[in-house]
Amino acid sequence: MTDAARRTGTTQVYTWEPSNQAIAARYGVRPEDVVRFDTNTSPAEPAGLAGALAGPFDPSLNEYPDSEYAELTAAAAAYTGVDPGEIVVGAGADEVLDIIAKTFLPAAGAAIVPIPTYGMYGVLTSQRAARAIAVPRRGTDGAFGLDLDRLLPLLAEAQVVWLAVPNNPTGADEPEANLLALLDAAAALGPQAPAIVVDEAYHEFTGRTAIPLRDRYPHLIVVRTLSKAFALPGIRIGYAVAARATIARLERVRPPGSVSTVSATIGAAALRAPATAVENVRRLVEERSRFAAALTAAGWTPHPSVTNFLLVRIGSHEQAEEAAERLLHRGLVPRTFGPANPLRGHLRLTVRSAAENARLVEAIGA
Ligand SMILES: Cc1ncc(COP(=O)(O)O)c(C=O)c1O
Repeated sequence: MTDAARRTGTTQVYTWEPSNQAIAARYGVRPEDVVRFDTNTSPAEPAGLAGALAGPFDPSLNEYPDSEYAELTAAAAAYTGVDPGEIVVGAGADEVLDIIAKTFLPAAGAAIVPIPTYGMYGVLTSQRAARAIAVPRRGTDGAFGLDLDRLLPLLAEAQVVWLAVPNNPTGADEPEANLLALLDAAAALGPQAPAIVVDEAYHEFTGRTAIPLRDRYPHLIVVRTLSKAFALPGIRIGYAVAARATIARLERVRPPGSVSTVSATIGAAALRAPATAVENVRRLVEERSRFAAALTAAGWTPHPSVTNFLLVRIGSHEQAEEAAERLLHRGLVPRTFGPANPLRGHLRLTVRSAAENARLVEAIGA
């Protein structure tokens, strides 16, 4: 989602990322020269995936998918080290987040959104006709961590807390002590505790996870995706891990066939061969250091990142907009932030291939 989501009258209007074709047409470049620095995806499909699809690839397409997604669920369970009954799958993390919102967030309810963060949390909250309680995160000197002094007193008002760990768009991790303090404060509310959603879309870049805490905190829901480290956003596979009773509630809302048989088959194979993700992460983390150093040498200021993207301070909002336009005229698409956003003087840049990153660095000085 772009930063242009806005409210007109009573209707929330969202705008999504423009297509390569739309960008090419607008900036007069060839579609094949467009590079997405705005979507936190990987520069290439996972190497070795074909090998991971053992045997001929022939999912039966004349039937509906297995409504329980037993194979995909088993693969996600084995990958995360939990029982299949502690997993629910969906069409990308976004659908899993949607299922969580439909399950836990009633109309006229409230969700806590520590900002800045992933835009879909606000979108899903407003789609439920619920109220988003925006709680500013600590600034750069607090490494964009949660401001617990502000957040904890609001817990009793909310049915859901949306949390990205590591966070998008800051690229920062969350200290485990903060997470535990939040979970303890929620647990102290007993049956009124809000669902604490820990969106670990970028988990594989840190190796840290809240999954082991699910036994102690039945309100904890960890969300994962194959879109980032596994480099498979095109197949749309995500899943949640939580205590059995929580998963049972999500299962009642999950659509029976939103993940195609083709996607479920590829997703299960990828989860059974996590070495492809490990290698992708190794390559991107190495490239992240090089990219950050080159951006710094070019006069921009990347914040520390534990993910596959960099939040980069450019200067004023106007300077950031001007820098974005310069990149877009070369087909390089950064994530921008609107004038009302606290990150308005920044761009967010996905770590792409060495050659693509070099194209961007060259464009800064051009
Ligand atoms: C924090 C976070 N959660 C979820 C998603 C979406 O994941 P998926 O592609 O699985 O829907 C993203 C994608 O950028 C993200 O940054």
